[in-house]
Amino acid sequence: TTVPAERSLEEHDDAMLLVSALPIKLAAGTKLKLRCYEGFWLPERFVPAAVAMQRRLVPRPDDVVIASLPKCGTTWLNALAFATMARRSYPPAGADHPLLRLNPHECVPFLDALLAEAGGEARLAALPSPRLMYTHMPHAMLPRGSKKVVYVCREPKDTAVSLWQFRRSAHPEIPFGDTFDSVCDGGSTYGPFWDHVLGYWRASLECPDRVLFLRYEELLRDPGENVRRLARFVGAPFSEAEEEAGVVRGIVELCSLGSLRNMEVNRTGLMDGLGFPRKALFRKGVAGDWANHMTPEMARRMDEVVADKFRDTGITF
Ligand code: A3P
Repeated sequence: TTVPAERSLEEHDDAMLLVSALPIKLAAGTKLKLRCYEGFWLPERFVPAAVAMQRRLVPRPDDVVIASLPKCGTTWLNALAFATMARRSYPPAGADHPLLRLNPHECVPFLDALLAEAGGEARLAALPSPRLMYTHMPHAMLPRGSKKVVYVCREPKDTAVSLWQFRRSAHPEIPFGDTFDSVCDGGSTYGPFWDHVLGYWRASLECPDRVLFLRYEELLRDPGENVRRLARFVGAPFSEAEEEAGVVRGIVELCSLGSLRNMEVNRTGLMDGLGFPRKALFRKGVAGDWANHMTPEMARRMDEVVADKFRDTGITF
């Protein structure tokens, strides 16, 4: 496979021109600029990454891409997928496991940020196979021919609460109502959430070998079984010997919220290039926290949006 070593200046200028012509707004209560690209509200600085993914990224047959909306369990799935795929070199109980000294996002390249930087395409092309990467981009922006995509989706009311709590780590005074409205209106970051979810859902129905559709709540209910599904999906099922040796349990334990959040690397410091505290990625990690933050009217409104947008799609929350 060949990938251009660098985005040429001309391509860079084209991307900038394209971005500046797109509708713009701020993510609710923050200074994050969003641009509406092909129907989705992407962070402005990542739009060139969407263009690069669609036009230039050459997928390899053994690439694995983790995809999600923010706050749906990305960090957890990154950790589980990394620990699963790297288990031969790094057994989960090993004292030198990378997850003991790196945040899960530092073990898995973030395509949206990487491809928006100068030199990012070349860095991606230089990674050894099999590459594990993650993105928040909608399905329509993935490179054509992506072979293995693992999507995680989460109950929308809990996702909205998690998003607000995450934003509060930088803006403690931010009201929940603004974030909530933007999610319901389809204008939150990488939204509308229903189109994001449906893009991957439909792809998973059409090509179950290409897109594995996971749910955060299912991961909570039975992490081990979902790790086994993930391993089978990426073509690296656990052997009987591994099962007997407790490798699945080891991966689940290593990647559990309690384990990750207590690591020094996840308690301190900021996320490289993204600027938020690493500890903001680890909060409650439960299903149903929405009930502690939403009025019954808010819950009803969101449930109506969900019922309307997911009618006859086969998805229920
Ligand atoms: P809450 O805010 O509801 O607690 P993302 O990684 O996509 O940003 O999602 C963040 C959500 O996943 C947060 O949810 C966070 O607490 C939860 N989370 C992070 N690591 C987790 C883990 N190892 N197990 C379960 N949930 C986790």
